Amino acid sequence: MTEQRTSMHGQWTTRWVFVLAATGSAVGLGNIWKFPYITGENGGGAFVLIYLVCVAAIGIPIMMAEVMLGRRGRQSPINTMRVLAKESNKNPMWQFLGWSGMAAGFIIISYYSVIAGWALAYVFRAGVGVFEGATADGINSIFNDLVNDPERLLAWHTIFMVMTIAVVARRVKSGLEKAVCWLMPMLFILLLILVGYAWNSGDFSAGLKFLFEPDFSKLSQEGVLTAMGHAFFTLSLGMGAIMMYGSYLPAGTSIAKTSIMISIADTGVALLAGMAIFPLVFANGLEPGAGPGLIFKTLPLAFGHMDGGTLFGTLFFVLLVFAAWTSAISLIEPPVAWLVENKNVNRVWAAVVTGIGAWLLGVGTVLSFNKWSDVKWFDKTIFDLLDYLTANIMLPLGGFFIVLFAAWIMKREMSKDELAIENPKMFELWYFLVRYVTPIGVIAVFLKSIGVI
Ligand code: PFF
Repeated sequence: MTEQRTSMHGQWTTRWVFVLAATGSAVGLGNIWKFPYITGENGGGAFVLIYLVCVAAIGIPIMMAEVMLGRRGRQSPINTMRVLAKESNKNPMWQFLGWSGMAAGFIIISYYSVIAGWALAYVFRAGVGVFEGATADGINSIFNDLVNDPERLLAWHTIFMVMTIAVVARRVKSGLEKAVCWLMPMLFILLLILVGYAWNSGDFSAGLKFLFEPDFSKLSQEGVLTAMGHAFFTLSLGMGAIMMYGSYLPAGTSIAKTSIMISIADTGVALLAGMAIFPLVFANGLEPGAGPGLIFKTLPLAFGHMDGGTLFGTLFFVLLVFAAWTSAISLIEPPVAWLVENKNVNRVWAAVVTGIGAWLLGVGTVLSFNKWSDVKWFDKTIFDLLDYLTANIMLPLGGFFIVLFAAWIMKREMSKDELAIENPKMFELWYFLVRYVTPIGVIAVFLKSIGVI
């Protein structure tokens, strides 16, 4: 082992805490809100298949690379990349990766908070029994009333952002891990209950067929890019969030095993969400391509008609908010850590400034669902554009350069030492993946999406 750095922001107490925190970052709106609606928009099975292949061949190797770089650098992504480039006698320009990652995180949290605000609003709607016995039309109008009202959206967006700032201001080890430990499994169980309901009351076979029977004629060129982009988004890769969390990881833990575990848990949650939602979509004659409102228009139907629906519905949206919260924290952690390291400010101040900036940008997303819904560039609203730019372009590009750095720039011995994979064959497999398969895969998807291949 070479000499170890330590992080000025603290360290996870055990490897298990890292797994929980990283899972908390990965499992969020991406799994339960975004995965079903983009699967619906992109025709189902073929999209899901490409997404799963991307998780395995691109996502897991990149996650390992990010954790490894973070643990070796032990700082915010910008400073980690600078230090590691120097250590390999390479150009400190590699720190641009940290910068672009921070920009991506900042943009994502701006709209993420708005959507998390929808989930917050739904906690109260479910809690007072608004969905009881409601019809599909009724539920549609409950959703439309919410998103058409910018003031309400702004209020929920503000509450969620304040919640995020409050946690980030209070350092790494704040008891959050304990909460993840309980609430994540609860979310999982609740999703299982919903799948059970969909099995009994939905058109389960149509739902499964839609999700798992690939029909490539339904997948557009852009859909292929969206599938890869989502693999990055859902695993929190390509912007330094996982690198940041890796920087708090105690030395000597197996990065490979933890990365695989996190990816499996994350994918499992997304697939369960899909299996709960699509049977309801088909049984109720709803539109799979209904867009960002999909889960808010389908799940309340289940809650409105199942036994104990008010309780389950409230609990579900509480857990969804919680899942979004643990992800949001990881989105603003890199800029906050950077401000603390470089600008000599305290954490509270850094968190407040970052949060206010992201909140302001989020106002654009709030308005894109109502007053500015006609404001479009490249046929996309502000929300669609920010989402496209980050998930489909910035994260894959960030991941691409992270993997180039880990595989081609950093010395092989260093990564071998840091990854500490016991089985030499496994290291060779990872090394082969990150040198060839992963970068070529990312380029191939980009080329495919613009019709070159
Ligand atoms: N992975 C989160 C989700 O699926 O909701 C979103 C996210 C968190 C993306 C952190 C990127 C990130 F760095």
